[in-house]
Amino acid sequence: MLDGKRVLLIVGGGIAAYKSLDLIRQVRKAGGAVTPVLTRAAMEFITPLSASALAGEKAYADLFDLTDEAEMGHIELSRSADLLVVAPATADLAAKMAGGHADDLASTLLMATDTPVLIAPAMNMRMWLHPANQRNMASLERDGIARVGPSEGEMACGEYGPGRMAEPDEIVDAIVAQLGTGALSGRHVVVTSGPTHEPIDPVRYIANRSSGAQGSAIAAALAGLGAKVTFVTGPAVVPPPQGVAIVRVETARQMLAAVRAALPADAAVFAAGGAGWPGEAVSGSKSKKRGCNAGMNLRRGVNPDLLA
Ligand SMILES: Cc1cc2nc3c(=O)[nH]c(=O)nc-3n(C[C@H](O)[C@H](O)[C@H](O)COP(=O)(O)O)c2cc1C
Repeated sequence: MLDGKRVLLIVGGGIAAYKSLDLIRQVRKAGGAVTPVLTRAAMEFITPLSASALAGEKAYADLFDLTDEAEMGHIELSRSADLLVVAPATADLAAKMAGGHADDLASTLLMATDTPVLIAPAMNMRMWLHPANQRNMASLERDGIARVGPSEGEMACGEYGPGRMAEPDEIVDAIVAQLGTGALSGRHVVVTSGPTHEPIDPVRYIANRSSGAQGSAIAAALAGLGAKVTFVTGPAVVPPPQGVAIVRVETARQMLAAVRAALPADAAVFAAGGAGWPGEAVSGSKSKKRGCNAGMNLRRGVNPDLLA
């Protein structure tokens, strides 16, 4: 999948740096070559020796190393790759990227290139949600920097929330998608997922027990093969996969409109479990319980068939 492709992997100084070693292994397994670059803080977590041993080539760390400059100048180093990947992208490294700093080898390489960049942020959930970090992420997105993750889950610090670095296999999928080397690269696939909620009144709705797990797994697999995936999802329990364009909807009619808006597509997978009845007779106010035997009139039409 990554035959003949070279990734310049910049490792930031976060606890998730240990996963970058597995990422090196997985990129190589997929046929790619990896040049590791470690920040000073990254070397507190992993060693250049282990990165270099797994990559099968030199790991770089110092901007002012005359030997490195003689071997391959820093400008050449940043331009020799097909993709620059920053994993983990710490809050500090992302802030430096957003601010255009170039005060060490990693940040200088990121400034001295017009090669596409993919970041995999990893940080404590409070750091991730901090307005300064959110501002930096928005500004990196505006600069055209691609992002994979972070996901939600248990952190090394014991807290639970968003900020966990994407798993190495998800990062490999994102690399394949960025480089357009997968079997489905250049193809657009629409995937629907999850349940729909059809309102009865402002507080009640008809739904079903669809979790969104199947749609999410299908979309992840398609993205991993390099397809551009539009993921139209109802209020699912399972989080959406990485590397897809997410369109969130609530009702079956919104889902139909979102699918139509996403066209043209080369293929569509309808994995959503839409509620069969539309919420067209929505009451403007909460329906009152009128005594124990009072029933609610739920007679309604039938929702549109997305496949039809
Ligand atoms: C044990 C430990 C774990 C850390 N983990 C993270 C982390 O996951 N994400 C993060 O943004 N910063 C983390 N930090 C803080 C960074 O190491 C610090 O901001 C550093 O300056 C980042 O350097 P960089 O710009 O080279 O990545 C951690 C610090 C320590 C001591």
